[in-house]
Amino acid sequence: NLPNHVSIREVGPRDGLQNEDTFIRTYDKVAWIEKLIDSGTSYIEITSFVSPKWIPALKDAKETAAKVKHKKDVTFAALVPNRKGAEAAIEAGMDELSVFMSASETHNKRNINKTIKETYPVLKEVIQEGKKANKTIRSYISTSFVCPYEGKVEIDKVLSVACALLEMGVDELSIGDTVGAASPRHVDQLLSVLLKKVTTDKIAMHFHNTYGMAAANCLASLQRGIHKLDSSCGGLGGCPYAPGAAGNMATEELLYLLHQMGIQTGMREEKIWEAAAFIERKLGRSLDSNILKVRNAG
Ligand code: HMG
Ligand code: MG
Repeated sequence: NLPNHVSIREVGPRDGLQNEDTFIRTYDKVAWIEKLIDSGTSYIEITSFVSPKWIPALKDAKETAAKVKHKKDVTFAALVPNRKGAEAAIEAGMDELSVFMSASETHNKRNINKTIKETYPVLKEVIQEGKKANKTIRSYISTSFVCPYEGKVEIDKVLSVACALLEMGVDELSIGDTVGAASPRHVDQLLSVLLKKVTTDKIAMHFHNTYGMAAANCLASLQRGIHKLDSSCGGLGGCPYAPGAAGNMATEELLYLLHQMGIQTGMREEKIWEAAAFIERKLGRSLDSNILKVRNAG
């Protein structure tokens, strides 16, 4: 029961850049985002309205959002942690607000400076503000498999956070393997439990590739009927509060996997290669994407 079509959530401009030492100037961020839109993506997370002290790489969120040309049928999303972020994202004309929290206490605390219990009312306010402004809301659940500080995370913890978020009105959950240490069996086990409570249209999967399992984990998700997957052009990404975590599933590799299986995405692989080569030049280091390496070699 593999899906015929997969919607890719491009998170490169947000997850991809948030942990980079090189500051990409707004002009180049915007040029990259426009190349990504040109690849046919229907969804793009362009930035984060978070504290610039916590994530300096995205301190130009407002300027970036103002300069990107919006395109019909493309959802523009931004990460927001609280009311201040929500107001800025709404003001900037985002279609969707992405809130985030973790299934494990320690990562939640390190990443957003709150306990899980303290986080709920903050997110509830964001969700209410977003709904009032007619925005859709996605919520990440980070450390859904492994926490960098606590180790393996029990499925029950993920389920409890997922149910609380859905009850507060979240439209879509993105189940995050922040550390990049999930394996297909773990993915299958988590989804078998989660899908008893939530339908596949409300779930996206978000894999980092630290252990080289991201593509295998995407396949395991497809086999459970998941048809929304997060990925990042060039395989960029990482959370500064998850030390050692590698980049996301690379969009160009995900496209190859899906297209080779006859699954449609509406996206053009060569356009993503071009976008990956562009940001690789701007960052001035070689990116961890197998397809990009092959392209660069020949
Ligand atoms: P805090 O220090 O507890 O916040 O941080 P605060 O409310 O006490 O405010 C402190 C200062 O931050 C104040 O400024 C606020 O105005 C400012 P000051 O008076 O000191 O000059 N501030 C803000 N500024 C701009 N925008 C805002 C905002 N909020 C407060 N929205 C806070 C709490 C949540 C703000 C902070 O911890 C934070 O910004 N964290 C973000 C961390 C982050 O972005 N991590 C990476 C994303 S998560 C991820 O990568 C995982 C994911 O990809 C999924 C996966 O892989 O699993 C999503
Ligand atoms: Mg991530």
